[in-house]
Amino acid sequence: MKKDIALILKSVREYKIYAIFTPIFMIVESAIECLMPLFMSRLLGVVDEGNTIALANGISLAEAIDTNKLILFICLMVGGAILSLAAGILGGIFAARASTGMAKNLRMDLYKKVQSFSFSNIDKFSASSLVTRMTTDISTVQMAFQMTIRMVVRAPLMMIFSVIFAFVAGGQMAWIFIGLIPVIALGFIIIMILAMPTFRRVFKRYDAMNESVEENVSGIRVVKSYVREEYEKEKFKTASDNIAKEFIKAERIVVWTNPILNFAIHASNVLICAIGSYLIIGAIGQDNSPLTIPQLSALQTYGVQILMSLMFVSMIFVMLIMALEAIKRISEVLKEEPTILNPENPIMEVSDGSINFDHVSFKYSLEAEKNALEGLNITIKSGEFVGIIGSTGSGKTSLVNLISRLYDVSEGNVIVGGHNVKDYDLITLRDAVSVVLQKNVLFSGTIADNLRWGNLHATDEEILKAAKTAQADEFVQTFPKKYDTYIEQGGSNVSGGQKQRLCIARALLKQPKILVLDDSTSAVDTKTDKLIRESLRKDIPNTTKIVIAQRISSIEDADKIIVMENGKINQIGTHAELLKSNKIYQEVYNTQVRKGGN
Ligand SMILES: Nc1ncnc2c1ncn2[C@@H]1O[C@H](COP(=O)(O)OP(=O)(O)O)[C@@H](O)[C@H]1O
Ligand SMILES: [Mg+2]
Repeated sequence: MKKDIALILKSVREYKIYAIFTPIFMIVESAIECLMPLFMSRLLGVVDEGNTIALANGISLAEAIDTNKLILFICLMVGGAILSLAAGILGGIFAARASTGMAKNLRMDLYKKVQSFSFSNIDKFSASSLVTRMTTDISTVQMAFQMTIRMVVRAPLMMIFSVIFAFVAGGQMAWIFIGLIPVIALGFIIIMILAMPTFRRVFKRYDAMNESVEENVSGIRVVKSYVREEYEKEKFKTASDNIAKEFIKAERIVVWTNPILNFAIHASNVLICAIGSYLIIGAIGQDNSPLTIPQLSALQTYGVQILMSLMFVSMIFVMLIMALEAIKRISEVLKEEPTILNPENPIMEVSDGSINFDHVSFKYSLEAEKNALEGLNITIKSGEFVGIIGSTGSGKTSLVNLISRLYDVSEGNVIVGGHNVKDYDLITLRDAVSVVLQKNVLFSGTIADNLRWGNLHATDEEILKAAKTAQADEFVQTFPKKYDTYIEQGGSNVSGGQKQRLCIARALLKQPKILVLDDSTSAVDTKTDKLIRESLRKDIPNTTKIVIAQRISSIEDADKIIVMENGKINQIGTHAELLKSNKIYQEVYNTQVRKGGN
């Protein structure tokens, strides 16, 4: 836990100066605030003294009073008020700078970290939980940090100063506070201990709600098309009701703080007044009164200050405990090591598109019971056209993900262009192996912007050529703004088939040595699908093409077809061979031919 906090505090960086100065300003503010009642008491003392002299000598108060002393204390009070105001404002500004600055750095650090994550790192956290950690959790930490640097020195100092000055101004009577402090502190601590577990539960529930909101909003189209709004609303209502319930429980305990504090203030006032009056009345007529009225008023003010600072201390405590949960979750991400890193002396060029799977087995996580892939041996020559077919969950996507090292193998080796994929520079490898993922997305921006993801410096001609090969140009030309057409977030304003073709064009712009299409033409009509394959053969003859497909027609003219079953290779062969001897292939073929021959 200590390490987690230290890790988070590291992100203060260039805002350290603000974080250091905030408490200093707060010390100045609280010191002055504590001096004020003393000055006030002394000022009243001067008036009191003048009064006594005036009465004794039968002169007016104006003549009897020590004007110099009077002016001195008035000036001290005015000066103190201005200084305390300035220190308070500066402290507030500095605290805001330090905490927002820290939150900014922390967000950047997290973002950078997430960018370095491999697919398996992301699997571990889930994308929505990463979002919660980067938003809600950071805000919690930011608030706690701001409050802490303002209060962590101020509140205890206030308390210590107030106690000291209470003795200076009020003498022995200050012992009353010393007696009261532990009692009230104990009260607050009991409240915190009771409320804490409930607050923790509130945060857990928040997490659950955030995740469900995110899932629902990003999947809102599916929700609507399945008319699940009522169900989703009900689900959300339960989640938010639960939060309210837990909050009420926690607050029911916390509401005791203020009344207890008020009660303590009144009690200490009554005590001080009672004992004070007793002392003052008892001393009437004597020369040496153990307590004067100005002292009594100062004592009361210090009493309030001591109790207020006690409350602030307990508030910091609550904030910190709330923040600890967030800190833990953020540092979990910061501490996570990317599972896929660049090797030490990376190979900077992929010589050709040949691929070799040598006894490859793979599982998604160490805890996974079953291998997703087992004992694969595949040899693919550079420039070949390879089809992969197999039922859902048979391991097709897992297989191709190993080629560009989106995941690392658990056993065996994947060789690309004659070298183990682990020896390549990651960027070099991923530029050479262009994968159109099954769940591919477009980003908000124009079509041209999106295609340039493949190659930032692509010329208009290159874009046009790639789009033509992917059979995308034909529909882009029908848009009024053509390649400047704006794509909404997630590509929601183009059809599924159009999106797939744009994704293929984007992959082509990398001019890869290996092109992988993972079910990338599933939403494209058969005719266009055929045109894409023909143009790929014609336009990029030297690029190895790996096509995962559901339709036999998409791969029947491949040089070789891999039939996957249950994470293993069932058979490798050409269309004709498989049709003759492979049961799975025959079955798929028969159902598809019967359905209408697509
Ligand atoms: N990110 C993942 N984490 C854990 N298991 C996964 C993940 N992706 C796929 N799997 C599992 O691996 C197996 C193979 O999946 P996949 O390669 O996606 O199959 P296909 O692409 O042939 O439909 C399935 O059993 C699936 O549940
Ligand atoms: Mg798949």
